[in-house]
Amino acid sequence: MKAYHLNSHTGAGHLARVDLSKPEPASGQVRIRVEAVSLNYRDLLILDRADQNKLNGRVPLSDGAGIVDAIGAGVTQWQVGDRVAASFFRDWVSGPFKASYVPSSLGGNTMDGMLAEYVVLPAHALVPVPPHLSSIEAATLPCAGVTAFHGLIARGGMGKGDTLLVQGTGGVALFGLQFAAALGAGAIVISSSDEKLARAKALGGSILINYRDTPDWDVALMKATDGAGASHILELGGPGTYDRSLRSVASGGKIVQIGVLTGFGPKPDLARLQWENADIIGVTVGSVEHFAAMNSFLTEHAIHPIVDRIYSFDEVPEAYAHLRSGSHFGKIVVTL
Ligand SMILES: NC(=O)c1ccc[n+]([C@@H]2O[C@H](COP(=O)([O-])OP(=O)(O)OC[C@H]3O[C@@H](n4cnc5c(N)ncnc54)[C@H](OP(=O)(O)O)[C@@H]3O)[C@@H](O)[C@H]2O)c1
Repeated sequence: MKAYHLNSHTGAGHLARVDLSKPEPASGQVRIRVEAVSLNYRDLLILDRADQNKLNGRVPLSDGAGIVDAIGAGVTQWQVGDRVAASFFRDWVSGPFKASYVPSSLGGNTMDGMLAEYVVLPAHALVPVPPHLSSIEAATLPCAGVTAFHGLIARGGMGKGDTLLVQGTGGVALFGLQFAAALGAGAIVISSSDEKLARAKALGGSILINYRDTPDWDVALMKATDGAGASHILELGGPGTYDRSLRSVASGGKIVQIGVLTGFGPKPDLARLQWENADIIGVTVGSVEHFAAMNSFLTEHAIHPIVDRIYSFDEVPEAYAHLRSGSHFGKIVVTL
């Protein structure tokens, strides 16, 4: 079967096409014929560390969807032909997060990912694809979709009358925007591009701020909300945005701390949290249970993920380059 490996010897690209033998499902496992995968910002961070030994020979990408192609002994919940997607943390099925789940993240330091024609996973790591979604759409869900759902809805309790701030128009941000629109919440979008802001408006963005033209976007946000601020914030930037997020949060609001787009290690002045009785919700993606709950929500509200561009298997390096350019709006997908 065809696949890609991270490879420390392939120069700056660090991606090598390989032919591997088709894996066989052992007891309790399922084999999936992968139809589509999607890229996340995380995959750039991992690619840029691909010269580390532990990543050499690793199949990248956490996100993929396809069709059950073979089942191992003892598997009763899946049948050949079922349409499934894999959960980001293979072993976080339900309940609160545990540090012991970290090594089970697909396409990370210790576990192969989805950029292969066939993948074998334990039966517990899969969810059914919502009937109204194609495999291309379903491949966008495991990381970006589940992260936004877990932070904003499962933990953040976002609902009608709330106001969400999303930063940029990448994968996590647009899922958040679509969830807010479905719930009847207002949405504030900041972006580097007026053209992207116009597209975000069509998805339900009600206050639109270009953060290049308006670097003090927190001041503009407060003015546009008559001083109320945002009840929910998808904090995607990290050190370059965190203080402005703190200055944008409404009284009793929630900052969902997710991203590192401007680097790691925010060192914000947290005093305002105290004065505004606001909370920080830290999120690492989510569980199989979160994924299934999000799929019910997507089905109920007939939400289709925003797919920016679809690449062929031969074009994987181009797909990574497109993600790195930051010119995308929503998700980048590769079909197999
Ligand atoms: N904690 C977790 O579990 C978790 C899960 C998923 C993602 N993440 C993190 O969340 C972040 C977003 O991930 P993603 O996959 O959605 O990324 P993505 O699709 O690559 O989104 C990138 C977009 O973010 C916007 N952006 C970049 N710098 C910005 C800034 N300084 N201020 C505001 N917007 C900015 C740009 O949009 P415009 O062109 O519109 O400006 C850019 O196109 C990343 O840091 C990722 O590592 C964390």
